[in-house]
Parts: sequence; structure tokens; C-alpha cells
Amino acid sequence: MSHSSDAPDHAVRAVTAGRPPELLPVGGGVHLRRRGSADAAALNAAVIANLAHLRPWMPWAQHVPTLAESEQIAARGVEAWEEGTDFLYLLGLDADPAAMVGAFGLHSRIGPGALEIGYWVHHEHTGRGLATAAARALTGAALALPGITRVEIHCDESNAASAAVPRKLGYLLDRIDEEAPTAPAETGRKMVWLTRG
Ligand SMILES: CC(C)(COP(=O)(O)OP(=O)(O)OC[C@H]1O[C@@H](n2cnc3c(N)ncnc32)[C@H](O)[C@@H]1OP(=O)(O)O)[C@@H](O)C(=O)NCCC(=O)NCCS
Repeated sequence: MSHSSDAPDHAVRAVTAGRPPELLPVGGGVHLRRRGSADAAALNAAVIANLAHLRPWMPWAQHVPTLAESEQIAARGVEAWEEGTDFLYLLGLDADPAAMVGAFGLHSRIGPGALEIGYWVHHEHTGRGLATAAARALTGAALALPGITRVEIHCDESNAASAAVPRKLGYLLDRIDEEAPTAPAETGRKMVWLTRG
């Protein structure tokens, strides 16, 4: 698992010949920057500090990650970027470049021509519009890639804070898929939101 959001899947082929910018301005005092191997310790600490916040919704947050696991995850994320399957970012504060206040990703796991955005925001920084602003920046970056015509955001129907993000961005609710819950608070009713075509 990537701790971004979800796992880079090496079985999935690249959906674009391009690569998104490694640094994406977001506004509001934050930016997205490509996640590298050197971020493993910060990622590990942030996930541990946010476990209670993440556990209800994130299948990979059910156990405390070791530093070695986070290093492996960060290294796989670097490979995935190079392969063009997953583009993993950290949300940083412009005023404090060492801080990470969230993790985001563009994932090719939903098939050709499309990328899915995954996200979480540090519990001390929620409720300020950061997820919405960062997802807006990622939506633009994804749609600027060659071969990408659609961006999706998936969330459980009961995850109101997450569903608010695509709703505020003007995504359309395409459907609700019934599937087995993967995290404790999920109902299994997965909302699939799409950029308007
Ligand atoms: C989902 C998450 C990323 C949102 O981050 P955020 O930076 O707080 O998001 P934003 O501030 O951009 O928007 C959240 C919206 O949800 C609303 N919201 C928050 N909790 C809510 C709740 N329980 N019920 C209804 N709306 C809620 C907020 O009011 C806000 O809307 P507003 O701007 O209209 O007031 C963050 O809560 C998180 O990390 N959750 C845990 C991980 C997770 O669920 N990730 C997504 C998995 S699909």
C-alpha cells in the first residue's frame, strides 16, 4: 500500500506517455510535491499520527506501519511514477517545506484513459478546504496528460467529508457500486464521481 491513498499496482500498465509536474501549486499556502524515497520517515510518522483518523476509511491503516514498510512503500511509489502507473504526492506547507499535511495520488487502476484521485489530510489540517483545493489542482494536472480524458474520485457513501470534495469540484456522481467494505466505517456502497465530459 502506498499510504497516499492506496497501492501502486504494478500489474496495471501506464495510461499516459506523459508525467504530471513534480511540483503543483495549490494555493492557500499549500502545494503538492512528488513523493520520494527520502520522504519515507515523514510519511511513516504522519501515518502513525493519523491512524485513528485514517482507520475508519483506509484499509491500509489497520496496523501501525514500521519504518521499513514505509521505506518499501515510498520506493515502490517512485518506481510507479517512473512506470507511469501511479503519481504520488505529499501536500506541503509553503511556509514550512519539511511539513507534510496530507498525501494524494493519481492512480491508473480504473482502466484506460482515466486516473483516480486518492487522498487524505492530516487531522490537524482538515476542514479548511485543503483536500478540495489539492484535488482541483490534481484534476487539472491529470486532464493535461496525453491520453487522459476522465478523472474519478471514489469514496464510500458514508464518508461525507470525502464525498464533499468531488461534489464541491463539480464532479458528477456517476453511480454507486455495491462491493464488500474494505475499512471499518464503510458501508460497501462506493460512490463513483467523474469529471464532467
Ligand atoms: C476526506 C478528507 C481528505 C477531507 O479533507 P479536508 O481537507 O477536510 O476537505 P475539505 O475541507 O476540502 O472539504 C471537506 C468538506 O466536508 C465537509 N465535512 C466534513 N465532515 C463532514 C461530515 N461528517 N459530514 C458532512 N460534511 C462533512 C466539510 O464541511 C467540508 O465541506 P465545506 O467546505 O462545504 O464546509 C479528510 O477528512 C480525511 O483525510 N479523511 C480521512 C481519510 C479519508 O477518508 N480519505 C478519503 C477516502 S475516499
